Amino acid sequence: MILVLMGAPGAGKGTQADMLVEKEGFVKVSTGDALRRQIQLGTEIGKKASGIMAAGELVPDHILLEILKAELEDKADKVVLLDGYPRNLTQAQTLQEVSRTKAVRGVIHIDVDSEELVERLSGRRTCSNCGASYHVVYGPPKSEGVCDRCGGAIVQRPDDQEDKVKVRLQVYEENTKPVLDFYKNRGLYHHIDGSGSVEEVNARIRLAIKEILP
Ligand code: AP5
Repeated sequence: MILVLMGAPGAGKGTQADMLVEKEGFVKVSTGDALRRQIQLGTEIGKKASGIMAAGELVPDHILLEILKAELEDKADKVVLLDGYPRNLTQAQTLQEVSRTKAVRGVIHIDVDSEELVERLSGRRTCSNCGASYHVVYGPPKSEGVCDRCGGAIVQRPDDQEDKVKVRLQVYEENTKPVLDFYKNRGLYHHIDGSGSVEEVNARIRLAIKEILP
């Protein structure tokens, strides 16, 4: 079954998914991480996606469909946390079709105000090897520039530069926000206050998950 994590760029989807994987044994499927892996591997998909992602725009739906199918393939008996998909109404419809046997059980919207989103994204640093996420103020690595998890180099994502962040937030407003109503209309929507510490937000999400998966 699938739990969708939704929220604007920087809302904490990846951070919270990682915590839930560790504490609850769920599996995480992140379309952003999957695309970045394709870029690292230099595949055709990676070549097509690279410039689009760096600009903060959405990668075409047909590429995401390919990614989604591949990522969900071997996870039939797992609780999947889906991070980064769907990002528009077409993708929401597609997910209904692709996941028929792994029905979407709930959609958790991590809601954070836009000023805080910009602060989180501009301070975010990411491991270039395993993708672990850090923040220069709120969650720095133990040793500067070195990933706690794998020892990889910590860098700033190209789309975390201020002008790209603005584009991503606008793309979210125009394309992704309408998806929240799609799920409200289906009784799957759960609102989570995404402000406060990562632990506070995690506790709220876990309460919502208890309601969804009793
Ligand atoms: P993706 O990688 O999915 O990026 P995103 O949605 O923009 O989300 P982020 O990873 O930026 O934020 P997050 O919510 O995971 O926050 P995080 O936990 O890291 O997608 C990248 C690109 O890929 C897209 O722009 C698009 O081009 C393409 N793409 C992906 N999926 C696609 C799709 N379906 N269709 C088309 N294109 C697609 O936290 C952010 C920072 O805040 C971190 O530093 C963290 O440490 C910190 N933080 C987290 N929680 C807190 C807290 N409670 N308090 C303080 N700091 C916090």
